[in-house]
Amino acid sequence: MHEEFPTETPAVVTCGLPYANGDLHVGHLRTYVSGDAYSRALERVGQDVAFVSGSDMHGTPIAVNAAEEGVDPESFALEYHEQYEETFPQFNVEFDNYGHTHDETNTELTREFVRSWIDGDHVFEKEIEVAWDSETDQPLPDRFVEGTCPYCGEKARGDECDEGCQRHLEPGEIEDPVSTITGNPAEYRTRPHRFLRLSDFQEYLKGFIDRLEGTENAQNQPREWIEGELQDLCITRDMDWGIDYPGDAEGDGGGDGEDLVLYVWVDAPIEYVASTKQYSERVGTETYDWEAVWKNQGTDEHPDGGEIVHVIGHDIIQHHTVFWPSMLRGADYNEPRAVMACGFVNLAGEAFSTSRNRAVWADDYVESGLHPDLYRYHIVTGSEFVADVNFSWDGLQERVNSELVGNLGNFCYRSLLFAERNYGGTPDADVSDEVRDEIESAMADFREAINDYRVRGLGRAPVELAKFGNEYIQRHEPWKLTDDDPEQAAQVIRDCVQLSKAVAVLMEPVLPGKAEELWSQLGEDGSVHDAELGDALADPVAEFDEPSELFEKIEDDRVEELNEQLQARVEAAGDGEEDEADEAAESDDETGGAAADLEPVREERIGFEEFQDLDLRVGEVLAAEPIEGADKLAKLEVDIGVETRQIVAGIKQLHDLEALPGTRIVVVANLEKSELFGVESDGMLLAAGDQADLLTTHGDAEPGTKIQ
Ligand code: 2FM
Ligand code: ZN
Repeated sequence: MHEEFPTETPAVVTCGLPYANGDLHVGHLRTYVSGDAYSRALERVGQDVAFVSGSDMHGTPIAVNAAEEGVDPESFALEYHEQYEETFPQFNVEFDNYGHTHDETNTELTREFVRSWIDGDHVFEKEIEVAWDSETDQPLPDRFVEGTCPYCGEKARGDECDEGCQRHLEPGEIEDPVSTITGNPAEYRTRPHRFLRLSDFQEYLKGFIDRLEGTENAQNQPREWIEGELQDLCITRDMDWGIDYPGDAEGDGGGDGEDLVLYVWVDAPIEYVASTKQYSERVGTETYDWEAVWKNQGTDEHPDGGEIVHVIGHDIIQHHTVFWPSMLRGADYNEPRAVMACGFVNLAGEAFSTSRNRAVWADDYVESGLHPDLYRYHIVTGSEFVADVNFSWDGLQERVNSELVGNLGNFCYRSLLFAERNYGGTPDADVSDEVRDEIESAMADFREAINDYRVRGLGRAPVELAKFGNEYIQRHEPWKLTDDDPEQAAQVIRDCVQLSKAVAVLMEPVLPGKAEELWSQLGEDGSVHDAELGDALADPVAEFDEPSELFEKIEDDRVEELNEQLQARVEAAGDGEEDEADEAAESDDETGGAAADLEPVREERIGFEEFQDLDLRVGEVLAAEPIEGADKLAKLEVDIGVETRQIVAGIKQLHDLEALPGTRIVVVANLEKSELFGVESDGMLLAAGDQADLLTTHGDAEPGTKIQ
């Protein structure tokens, strides 16, 4: 059981490592902004914390893209790494250390981890069938192969079912594999590989998942994997690019593995440790001791180990709650305290599509001239952390104009202006009990949001307090009191200055740049970044200068211009047919988008009897709800006349689920049952194309009517 934050022991907040293989868009930035806000919030409550991440430089995500550009993977990845290092601060994401997986610290540490597993007899060698391109005579690890997920039947790439159930796929598991190099069906060859025996950690993981804190999706989703049969993890790949497998002829019972590199998911999370270590080495271990966080569990000094908090996208929950804790355990490192897994970001209601250039790139945002804090606020408070969130220029405008300009900014400006004009700063009076209570309750909400891992709550706390402030000032009308009751006027304005100071402290995690401006308008010394939560109630400075407005309204024509730019780019990218084909093939694209070329009708015919084997029925949707944590899946209750069926379908983002009840659909009623994302599906609905256009009936055939 961990004690509440702040703890005696130091903490580390990490963000999932971005693959250094392409430009960042505002969708990618959600995790980094959230991690940054969370780590800043921990600092506000006095937690000793480091905030680290790094670029993920290895694996096929890099190798495939570098090969497409005809450059070597190292320089390709380094270029993006440098670009990311510049981009994050432009969004006020300030890592204490941002390394990369190819640097010496990580390479060394990764080898040490693997050697520990070998020494602990957790690694074994096995011959496995790996996909192979016979035309180019080369192995096809991970993203060099595409096919069908054996668990849910969705299109999948190499090592991940990114469009379906999100499971990690082991080499050789993907069905109907096709080489992404030649487009030929892949063959299989037998190769010796090394495996981490995850079953060694199964009992441990069962306890771990009960202890794990963070968001619910990270606690619930892995249970079925941990409680089921744990598949061993293949930790090597037939590739040149990566960290060489540190062979040990005696220890792991096999050859020296010298032509193998480690699977990218081995060295990537170890960068969390390496990056923390680099930070410690830079500031000195007396200031921040990485080993106190990552090691030393059970020592007198650190009985619980450190407080390790991982902030990730929900597509990599399995890696962080099954593989990573096993890797840590096998090397005698401390376990994560919490995993916070956020939903995806949609762009104006649809998925980002990098091939169609339907994305707001990080650079676009920077070039728009809008303050980075506006994006931060929009993305952090736009939905609960675990849910998908929508980014649009219109949405940004609406939230900024009403909540930041109209509420928070307005309250602070009118309060400080009144204070400066009438008293030259903070009037000489005490804070009222009512305002003190209100600030204390906002501070309590803030602490609660930290301990409940609710990043949205961190953004809401200052806005709610400002809302109270506006009501308070409106209720007391100090402008009417200055002549009639100067004492009462001074009291009200003193309260408002105190509220503004509290707002500055509370807004620092999500709106750090704007908090700094407000801090300086309040005449405070130093940086609000060094303030403690308790400073929300500390006396404000007696004298300050005339304030200026904190936020500017975003005008309609600005939004129109930004929307037009985006639209023009999408249209330009969609001009060529080739782009559409790319689109259909692009796996980062979540909804599919434009129709692919029509496939010719299959040559082989089936007999009527074969057709009759299919039991197709008219169904009526009774209820439809999203499956939490699944990117695309929805759970439907469907009346098929004879009974009600539960059907899971990949239509979450393509249909308004609330509007579906009452819709007639066509159901394959005698399909084998399956399990998608841990939810049983008893039947399949028929839908056409990438947008899952639902097949329905023309007349009023009753549910259960057979289709023939
Ligand atoms: O899925 C990804 O984008 C990976 N690059 C995340 C790695 S996170 C960590 F564990 F290393
Ligand atoms: Zn799947």
